[in-house]
Amino acid sequence: MNNKVTIKDMDFKAKKVIARVDYNVPLDDGRITDDARIKASLDTVKYILDNGADKLILMSHLGRPKGKVVDGLRLTPAAKRLSELLGEDVEKLDDCIGDEVKKRVASTNKRVILLENLRFHLQEKAGDEEFARELASLADIYVNDAFGTAHRAHASTTVIAKFLPSCIGFLIEKEIRYLAEALNPKKPYVVILGGAKVSDKIGVVRNLLTKADKIIIGGAMAYTFLKSKGESIGSSRLESDKVDLAADILKDAESRSVKILLPIDHLVVDALDNPAGKKVVESIPQGFMGVDIGPETIDLYKKELEGAKTILWNGPLGIFENDNYARGTKELALFLAELKDVVVIVGGGDSAAAAKKFGVVDKLTHVSTGGGASLEFLEGKELPGIAAIPDKRR
Ligand code: 3PG
Repeated sequence: MNNKVTIKDMDFKAKKVIARVDYNVPLDDGRITDDARIKASLDTVKYILDNGADKLILMSHLGRPKGKVVDGLRLTPAAKRLSELLGEDVEKLDDCIGDEVKKRVASTNKRVILLENLRFHLQEKAGDEEFARELASLADIYVNDAFGTAHRAHASTTVIAKFLPSCIGFLIEKEIRYLAEALNPKKPYVVILGGAKVSDKIGVVRNLLTKADKIIIGGAMAYTFLKSKGESIGSSRLESDKVDLAADILKDAESRSVKILLPIDHLVVDALDNPAGKKVVESIPQGFMGVDIGPETIDLYKKELEGAKTILWNGPLGIFENDNYARGTKELALFLAELKDVVVIVGGGDSAAAAKKFGVVDKLTHVSTGGGASLEFLEGKELPGIAAIPDKRR
């Protein structure tokens, strides 16, 4: 499926290499709370260095500073963490373009340089050609390994590829390989879909209805589906303008003989900040809202997952960030971690955060580093950051 030029096809000897990585990592008061994306870039970083590159210039965005310098969104913590992981000092610059950057790239004795947050310049998101040309002027080869940003057509993810010999790195290669398995699965294929909104997942549901044998639904989006079947959902989160769409999806699934499973019991509370008042119900009464799938549903979903050869998990089944409402997501995560001879792929974003919280990341086949990017990939869309890289010559 993937026929893109990869870093294995390049000769890095004595070359300056500029690589787009996704170091858009969560920060709490300047501390990185999850360094998975930095770790995920290491294979590519090391390969380029081990293969004789003269300099490796890394670039990334962090957050959404909208063209302004925001001190809290500098990439300094990422440079520090990368230095620790690599075991060598990374030179962090204060900008990503300009004369000072050029001078430092030429004069530093460090092998690895991290440019400042690309989105401090509006031209990055605008896909500005001049800005991309400036970035390209720092190097001889461009590597895109920012899977998490591959759905964005920005200067550093697509336009720059016009100006340099270009390839994808190991992370993008790996993401394509595994996520492609979710689109071309060994059967039986079961999809677990959760998260807050049906609207975020419409494209994915539509695409997966043509591939899955079963779709298991949890999270707040389940209440919109239940409402479409006329069930009582109390004051649970509802997308009222998506009820017809949910009904439509259920009808479509039926016509394709795809089994859709909805929760048969629920953990509910009368207020989110009143976990002491939580209880399990089969039908959600007025004045209560669902916060997790119930124990009967957990058992049912585990049973329905048995025998699957491929499982895709995208979206949490309850408000897992709050330990009081985390049981459904946790039990399913632990169950997936124990399965043998099953390909288990986790779409990024919240489900990746849940996999991390419950300590199962290393026990699953693949946990994507992309949130929006993995969703768009699973919708069947071509990601611009990958499309911009040339195909291998036959
Ligand atoms: C992400 O975290 O999903 C990526 O880094 C892309 O970030 P963005 O949604 O701000 O473009």
